[in-house]
Amino acid sequence: MVPSRSLSCILTLPALAFLSLSASALPHARTASSTAALKLAVRVNSYGIKNIAAADRARIQALQADGSSSVNITNTGTTYTANIGVGNPATYYTFLLDTGSSNTWIGTNKAYQKTSTSYDTDGTFNNPKYASGEEYLDYVTLNSDLVIYNQSIGVASTDPGLGDVDGLLGLGPVNLTRGTVSNADTVPTVMDNLYAQGSINSEVLGVFFAPASSDDTSGELTFGGYDASKITGDVNYVSITSTSPASSYWGIDQSITYGDTEILSQTAGSVDTGTTLILIASDAFSTYQSATGATPNESTCLLQISSDQYDQLSSLYFTIGGVTYELTPNAQIWPRSLNTAINGTTDGIYLIVADNGSPSGSGLDFANGYCFLERFYSVYDTENSRVGFATTEYTDATTN
Ligand SMILES: *[C@@H]1O[C@H](CO)[C@@H](O)[C@H](O)[C@H]1NC(C)=O
Ligand SMILES: *[C@@H]1O[C@H](CO)[C@@H](O)[C@H](O)[C@H]1NC(C)=O
Ligand SMILES: *[C@@H]1O[C@H](CO)[C@@H](O)[C@H](O)[C@H]1NC(C)=O
Ligand SMILES: *[C@@H]1O[C@H](CO)[C@@H](O)[C@H](O)[C@H]1NC(C)=O
Ligand SMILES: *[C@@H]1O[C@H](CO)[C@@H](O)[C@H](O)[C@H]1NC(C)=O
Repeated sequence: MVPSRSLSCILTLPALAFLSLSASALPHARTASSTAALKLAVRVNSYGIKNIAAADRARIQALQADGSSSVNITNTGTTYTANIGVGNPATYYTFLLDTGSSNTWIGTNKAYQKTSTSYDTDGTFNNPKYASGEEYLDYVTLNSDLVIYNQSIGVASTDPGLGDVDGLLGLGPVNLTRGTVSNADTVPTVMDNLYAQGSINSEVLGVFFAPASSDDTSGELTFGGYDASKITGDVNYVSITSTSPASSYWGIDQSITYGDTEILSQTAGSVDTGTTLILIASDAFSTYQSATGATPNESTCLLQISSDQYDQLSSLYFTIGGVTYELTPNAQIWPRSLNTAINGTTDGIYLIVADNGSPSGSGLDFANGYCFLERFYSVYDTENSRVGFATTEYTDATTN
């Protein structure tokens, strides 16, 4: 069949709506390797999620445009948040965890509470994608024994569209902060400061997300390494891609096949906690749609398949740095327990691969979002400019 897309599914941006994860900072004993963990838990926001594909597409287009267009990051359908303290004594804010940007800042939802540790830099921050305001230095408390001193933190003066989320914890590469703060070239990220202040031995972030649909849902960020208890194999690393603009982010090269059918030949894209779905270039998406026989569904703006087609579904193979990661048929569908949250019917079967809205060759031909990261543990290694992946107990699990 000829793949087609609903125009409204491309143009409609959803109302603010998202899944969020709340985090509780558990008391943590620093290990010999000096890593610290921040626990996350999934909850489905009662707002429901509408048109996550369009929201994800708006985000990748903003990333492709390299900062010149704006996007509300809570539009992305699924977000990860943690309760993080600012100041001393700390006021706790709900922060989004974003590997696709690098400034840490507080929005207008919950006012910044200055304390004796708040230092006004007299600079302004302006992250054209998100927000602008004044730039401070302050203490940031990630958990009871992981405090960052003098973290650069922006305080937005206009509504950045974060909904009821309070701020954003930038976990991307430091170069993304270039030009964002008026009186600085770049500003150190939270990871840079944790490392510079000796709180972690290596500038490595480990990200574990359990599927949103699993009963005992939890996620975990590990600062200074990865959590070996969460993975079931080796961590395989791949260097950051040299292709721009993916190279500015946690960008990698990968190829994708569906069964024996090539979907996307080796090309650059990003690994992004701010994206919900797996987005691929329009031509690759057409190939995937034809190969699966799926039809566009206007209620959800996702591809839909019948239960017979689901039974016939092949695995989707991602080859990254010479290692192949298998996304099983079950991992290619939206969790059915969350169907109604995306305007679907309870028995509908919707695919989590969506169109990024541009032809391949853009330099950002895919985004491996939450639907990928809930199946594979990911490791972000700043010093060695590489990203790692490992299988988890959820890689092959039937959770959807
Ligand atoms: C934080 O920065 C301010 C301004 O540079 C400085 O006066 C203060 O000593 C610093 N505090 C810490 C804990 O590094
Ligand atoms: C972002 O959110 C703000 C405030 O909620 C809203 O005014 C604006 O239109 C939104 N922008 C986009 C691109 O959705
Ligand atoms: C960051 O930017 C500087 C200056 O342009 C450059 O020398 C450096 O290689 C960049 N770092 C990375 C990791 O891209
Ligand atoms: C989209 O899915 C909904 C719910 O499963 C269904 O009612 C509707 O008919 C589907 N639309 C198309 C165009 O298949
Ligand atoms: C939900 O789906 C119906 C059709 O099934 C559609 O008319 C409506 O616009 C959709 N709502 C949203 C918010 O996408």
